[in-house]
Amino acid sequence: MSQHLPSFPDTNADWFQQITNTLSPDQLLWLSGYSYGLAVAKKPQPLADGLAVASQPTPESISTTAQHLPTAQHLLNAAPLTHNTPPSDASALPLTILYGSHTGNSKKIALRAAEHARKNGLKPLLHDMSEYPLKNLKQERNLLVVVSTHGEGEPPIAAEDVYAHLHSPRAPKLHETSFSVLALGDKSYLHFCKTGADFDAQLENLGAKRLVPRVDCDVDFEDSAEAWIEASVSALLEKSGAAKNSTNGHTKHLYSTAANDSAQQTTPYSKKNPFPAPLLEKIQLNGRGSEKETFHLEFSLEDAGLVYEAGDSLGVVAENSPRLVEEVLEAAQLSSTATLGEALGETTLAEILSRNVELTLLTRETLTKHNEYAQSSELTAILADTDRLKSYLYGHDVADLLRAFPAQHTPETLTAILRKLPPRLYSIASSLKEHENEVHLTVGAVRYEVGGRRKEGLASCFLADRVGVEGEVKVFVERNEAFKLPQSAATDIIMVGPGTGIAPFRAFVEDRANDGASGKNWLFFGNPHFTTDFLYQTEWQQWLKKGVLTKLNVAFSRDQAEKLYVQHKLLANSKEIFAWLENGASFYVCGDKNRMAHDVEAALKLIVQQESGTSPEKAAEYVKSLKKQRRYLEDVY
Ligand SMILES: Cc1cc2nc3c(=O)[nH]c(=O)nc-3n(C[C@H](O)[C@H](O)[C@H](O)COP(=O)(O)OP(=O)(O)OC[C@H]3O[C@@H](n4cnc5c(N)ncnc54)[C@H](O)[C@@H]3O)c2cc1C
Ligand SMILES: Cc1cc2nc3c(=O)[nH]c(=O)nc-3n(C[C@H](O)[C@H](O)[C@H](O)COP(=O)(O)O)c2cc1C
Repeated sequence: MSQHLPSFPDTNADWFQQITNTLSPDQLLWLSGYSYGLAVAKKPQPLADGLAVASQPTPESISTTAQHLPTAQHLLNAAPLTHNTPPSDASALPLTILYGSHTGNSKKIALRAAEHARKNGLKPLLHDMSEYPLKNLKQERNLLVVVSTHGEGEPPIAAEDVYAHLHSPRAPKLHETSFSVLALGDKSYLHFCKTGADFDAQLENLGAKRLVPRVDCDVDFEDSAEAWIEASVSALLEKSGAAKNSTNGHTKHLYSTAANDSAQQTTPYSKKNPFPAPLLEKIQLNGRGSEKETFHLEFSLEDAGLVYEAGDSLGVVAENSPRLVEEVLEAAQLSSTATLGEALGETTLAEILSRNVELTLLTRETLTKHNEYAQSSELTAILADTDRLKSYLYGHDVADLLRAFPAQHTPETLTAILRKLPPRLYSIASSLKEHENEVHLTVGAVRYEVGGRRKEGLASCFLADRVGVEGEVKVFVERNEAFKLPQSAATDIIMVGPGTGIAPFRAFVEDRANDGASGKNWLFFGNPHFTTDFLYQTEWQQWLKKGVLTKLNVAFSRDQAEKLYVQHKLLANSKEIFAWLENGASFYVCGDKNRMAHDVEAALKLIVQQESGTSPEKAAEYVKSLKKQRRYLEDVY
């Protein structure tokens, strides 16, 4: 094979051939991307139509380029761009697209925006906010921002620095900048799309002019995002004639798009067209007498062409429970057989309430829209008070709302106030390398009582109660870029996964076992009781025996007088955890975001503080820097 390749431009090149002979195809592909990146940084020239590079390479630009061109797939994806011949007006217009993403949705949209802009003759520069040189901000003339919201209305880690810079006294004046923001979020959070809204307001405060208004997207963001991309690019094209002569001062940037999804899928199935996956097995993982109800579910992906990686999630499309549908109809005093007109194919109201709209959760928007019909001063007061709103939203459903604040709804107005039913995500608990054509989940059934009414979580109870083996569930794969195994198989990992948080770690360990990864694997698990709640106990014991799992620490919170949680087990192993981290280990946390994730982070800061004899502030910086290096990764919900 090698004799057909061009020879290395060095007459004494035996050393080069010796090295390349020892590399696997994947390593060679990586090397091609790496050297391409270095070449880009060393040779400051346009690479292709639509792509420009930094004229003065900086240490960051070299590492950014190298990091972002690691796969041949990326180069293949970039190649067709060289055939673009942009109309001259548009190509002269500078455009920067910035994305701040955690799980990858904003990045996907930003890539799509760049593609659309290029097709229209623009030369977009695409930047992950975490790698964007802040000093470039003041030179931006046209800026598209795609950013999600995480935590409780906070920017994703990748966007933190740009966000802080824009809100700091050092923020540049941006009177010559035009911009638009696409905000990603989830209406079930109180601070819906807050980060995008903050970016939008602050860019305006700094003098920038809106190209098109901000768009806030709920979890079904695809259509709104596409409309925003088209509107933004159209606005830029309109502007391009006028802007033709004003681009001279624009600095060339590094081309810094990220590699595309490594798990390229050839499948007709997607979030918009989910795969009806047959349920192969369903096992209750908790023993008799447990207060928990956790299910292990195995689905077939045979013939679906769907692939996933350890760390990804599975989207599940569920239907509302017939009992809740009935309760809602009764509370609204509407008939189940009422129809909604031709546009919906004469579908009955009961069908719409089952499949299309959210009934178990309420959002601020639903309350606001409902109050247009209810005209309740009490509901108005709740909506005006964030604390009351937060507490009302927790645990009340659509039937509660309709009963407490009655209104005269028609089938049309009732469905119009409700949120479109979003799928639920579940961390994938299997590795394709261990279970070909299958995907496994670990699902905790959500059941609780409020105001004397028994409540059931939509998707968890759909899976627990209403789908049997041989039944089918509509699913899709949701990539999670923020929760991946380390690139090097030699890196040690520490996994903290109490409760259903254990799910992705089953996938991680299976994956590493199949790869023969040399890195050590340490698992922390917790649940109420050893006898009833030790999820996947026999599997962990097998992995320990085989040496794949290096260490396992468990915290059964209610097996002794004092409550014992995973964070206590972390603290009890302080010295060794710090040693692993200092040796380059990655730290993973999965499960409850409200308490566990905070407690674990606090414990880790304490460990760093104790073991390195540093201040709380320095320990916090250490943990922050782990997050920035993507060595502290969370999959919390
Ligand atoms: C990336 C990701 C991965 C996830 N992985 C997993 C996983 O591996 N396993 C897993 O089980 N879940 C996982 N989840 C959570 C999962 O997506 C669902 O949120 C969960 O199953 C509940 O959804 P549901 O439809 O059953 O309940 P919903 O219909 O969404 O109802 C849940 C709501 O009920 C209310 N509620 C719940 N308990 C109470 C209470 N005691 N008192 C008052 N109100 C209450 C709250 O408002 C809560 O938001 C994950 C979530 C994400 C985002
Ligand atoms: C732990 C967690 C917290 C979140 N917090 C919020 C929030 O406060 N407000 C909001 O609108 N969306 C919130 N979201 C929803 C995300 O913004 C949404 O899933 C978005 O599509 C993610 O985009 P990304 O993949 O680009 O990060 C949260 C999601 C998760 C997993």
